[in-house]
Amino acid sequence: MGAVAALDLGTGQACVVVGEVDERGVALVGVGTAPSRGLRKGVIVDVESTVTSIQKAIAEAETMAGCQIRRVVTSIGGAHLRGVTSHGVVAVRNGEVSSGDVRRVLDAARAVALPADRQVLHVLPQEFLIDDQEGIKEPIGIAGVRLEAKVHIVTSQSAAAHTLIKCCRQAGLSVDDVSLGSLAAADAVLTPEERDLGVALIDIGAGTTDIVLFHGGSVRYSATLPLGGGHLTNDIAAGLRTPTAEAEKIKQRYGRARAAGIDDHASIEVPSVGDRDARILPHQVLCQIIEPRVEEIFSLVSREIGRSGFEDGLASGVVLTGGTALLDGIADVAEGIFRLPVRIGSPHHVTALEDLVASPSYAAAIGLILAGGDHARPVRRMAPHPTTMLGRTRERVTEWLRDFF
Ligand SMILES: Nc1ncnc2c1ncn2[C@@H]1O[C@H](COP(=O)(O)OP(=O)(O)OP(=O)(O)O)[C@@H](O)[C@H]1O
Ligand SMILES: [Mg+2]
Repeated sequence: MGAVAALDLGTGQACVVVGEVDERGVALVGVGTAPSRGLRKGVIVDVESTVTSIQKAIAEAETMAGCQIRRVVTSIGGAHLRGVTSHGVVAVRNGEVSSGDVRRVLDAARAVALPADRQVLHVLPQEFLIDDQEGIKEPIGIAGVRLEAKVHIVTSQSAAAHTLIKCCRQAGLSVDDVSLGSLAAADAVLTPEERDLGVALIDIGAGTTDIVLFHGGSVRYSATLPLGGGHLTNDIAAGLRTPTAEAEKIKQRYGRARAAGIDDHASIEVPSVGDRDARILPHQVLCQIIEPRVEEIFSLVSREIGRSGFEDGLASGVVLTGGTALLDGIADVAEGIFRLPVRIGSPHHVTALEDLVASPSYAAAIGLILAGGDHARPVRRMAPHPTTMLGRTRERVTEWLRDFF
């Protein structure tokens, strides 16, 4: 199999990775990034500049990889994404569950009443029940008369998905698959043990914060909040009266999620708006702007976790990923709010050029490519996930991708 290309189109940047997937993971051959200017809170609002960003990132990755990219697997984000739990029931046809029965029961489960403007993105099996036997992960071959599936379904607004595919087409790419960005990130950063024991993956990007809760090896809850690192930058720009681009640099260089513990006398240089002179301000002032916003984001996440009903099922704690997870001290603030162990998740399973993507901001792109290898082959053979029904984390959306053309 040749190389697979993935495009993670985020509010902050378009990120392309190209690599070959085998049982050990991804051997990267190319990476390309470009600032993304056409998205707001995860959703494309300007086609032309989005296409330009995609083309730039693709061209950079092509140069590095020395190949042409014609097809991609891509991510989708935004607060229009919804996760719901559903279930389906069918009669077992020949006294023993077959792969056809499993397909039918998943179809039954996905047949939730969908408004006309929404589409199913993923059908993620949680467990199967055969007659009265619950908690079955591998139903095929088990005898019974009644097969039931519990699933987590992720739906997206059709228009948002359509615009994403249109932008890729205009950039000269055909789209093999569209995946929820945070689910892809989960593939790249979580361990099977974490998914099993229970974990909250929190992907904090530039425009959105995504939450995916796992327990018993499968997705139990997912949600997207329209808040991210861009809001920190905007708060800094307003609070320190400095241009947004300078606020972004200051955040990355001096930003800290906790104001306590910073030297009272430490100071930072802050460029002014217009041609006024730069000012010297206490470092504390910067961190006093950042801290409440970070706390606000985590409080909203905590509310979502409460809503999920799984707050007592997160034995492996919380994993933070996405570019904002690079903010100094953020894990500390998260631990204070969630009262759970927190770690920062950078992509695993990269076997070549790994230092190029050793950052939480590449998690979704690497996850897409791991699953992209799966898409190209019918059976997933990679080490990261067992090839069980539940390991098969995503349902292909190819039918509705085809509907677009
Ligand atoms: N060192 C750093 N400290 C703090 N924030 C950082 C740092 N590096 C990057 N960021 C922030 O990470 C964010 C970008 O993260 P990421 O690339 O995951 O977002 P995205 O996927 O483009 O956006 P989204 O997923 O929200 O649509 C930006 O807001 C950026 O300011
Ligand atoms: Mg993102």
